Amino acid sequence: MAAESKQEQSLLEKAQRVLPGGTFGNTAADLIIAEGKGSHVWDENGREYIDYLIGSGPMIVGHGHPEVTAAVRAQLERGTTFFANNPQGIELAAAIADAVPCADKVRFASTGSEADAFAIRLARAYTGRDKILKFEGGYHGYSDYGLMSLAPKTPGNSPQPIPDSAGIPESIKEDILVAPFNDAVAVESLIKEHPNAIAAVFMEPLQRLIPPQPGFLEAMRELTRAHDILLVFDEVVTGFRMSYGGAQQYYGVVPDLCTLGKAIGGGFPLSAVAGREDIMALFDANRTPAERFVPLVGTLSGNPVAAAAGLATLEILKRPGTYERYFETGEKLMTALSRSLESAGLEAQVVGVPPMFDVVFAPGDVRNYQDTARADSAKMAKLNGLLRERGILKGENKYYVSTAIDEQDVVQTIGIWSDAIGAMRST
Ligand SMILES: Cc1ncc(COP(=O)(O)O)c(C=O)c1O
Repeated sequence: MAAESKQEQSLLEKAQRVLPGGTFGNTAADLIIAEGKGSHVWDENGREYIDYLIGSGPMIVGHGHPEVTAAVRAQLERGTTFFANNPQGIELAAAIADAVPCADKVRFASTGSEADAFAIRLARAYTGRDKILKFEGGYHGYSDYGLMSLAPKTPGNSPQPIPDSAGIPESIKEDILVAPFNDAVAVESLIKEHPNAIAAVFMEPLQRLIPPQPGFLEAMRELTRAHDILLVFDEVVTGFRMSYGGAQQYYGVVPDLCTLGKAIGGGFPLSAVAGREDIMALFDANRTPAERFVPLVGTLSGNPVAAAAGLATLEILKRPGTYERYFETGEKLMTALSRSLESAGLEAQVVGVPPMFDVVFAPGDVRNYQDTARADSAKMAKLNGLLRERGILKGENKYYVSTAIDEQDVVQTIGIWSDAIGAMRST
């Protein structure tokens, strides 16, 4: 969108001067968000949006929730970082251990990418094996190992991974195997082709927006257990979102390890590796021989301001009825969006679950990455643009619902959908 004010123009120019591509790398250069409150954000020109980006996930209870703000403010007065254990971090770890089925122990880091990289290393150290089996289209952060076959341009490359970034050494490919999501037969045959070599099946239990087919997670649990492979759930997105205990509680399949991020930092940088006592013991130098010890040290790990925000967020989410209302809102939105697309006669469907979903412009089942890769991305970009012009902010491929979305937001969103989808049909 074109700049509307001198102030915005000046910021856009400055951004172009000092930032590669004029951006932080996350969203388009022409978007400058200046403020957020509850379920809405405002751009630099004061244009208001219903926010379905929610900071790419962390703002699950909305922007500036009074209880989160009060907890942060109280901690700010008492110091902002210590590099030492602090009460808020200990309480947050205890809240995570109480909530998340696999979490006997918790170790903090600052970003989801970091937690994933450490979980990969931990799985290798525990099993003494090097290979990681991941799923095509799954995102596990930006480490050399994580950023493989997230969005390959060529179809059907499994099991060879395709790096999603320049600068990743060729040798890394040796240690990553890629399978199609929701295909237990493919996973089983890869495990059999690589006996005693795979450290972990590393997966998003609900991959991007694609739910696991009935029995798929259970099959992953059985196969990994039978072959002494660790099952790791990347719950950076799904943790405290699919339910208070995450996707592992929602789907009733408990992994050996999981990673958490986004919601647990309440809008501040905080992530965690959590899991089984005997595996997490490798982070403890006093319980582990030196050759198996995995150091996880970080200047800001368990930062008290982030922990205070995360803890306040979890306290809000834990209240009775929160997830019921949250899912009801998401369901209403998903149903309305489906109806809108259907009545416009567009070849499109809504994929996902009530906390996060989006339109896929393609017919047929969506069970894995290749099914989403068939979708018409030009149409998607067009619709996203029309929505932004009309006051809906969302990610390129995702609506994240927050608990702050109220009835009025729902009504307004449905109106905007119908208008934007109508405009889409007439172009
Ligand atoms: C499933 C998943 N894992 C890991 C990450 C990386 O987290 P971060 O961006 O905090 O490094 C993301 C980020 O979106 C994610 O969606």
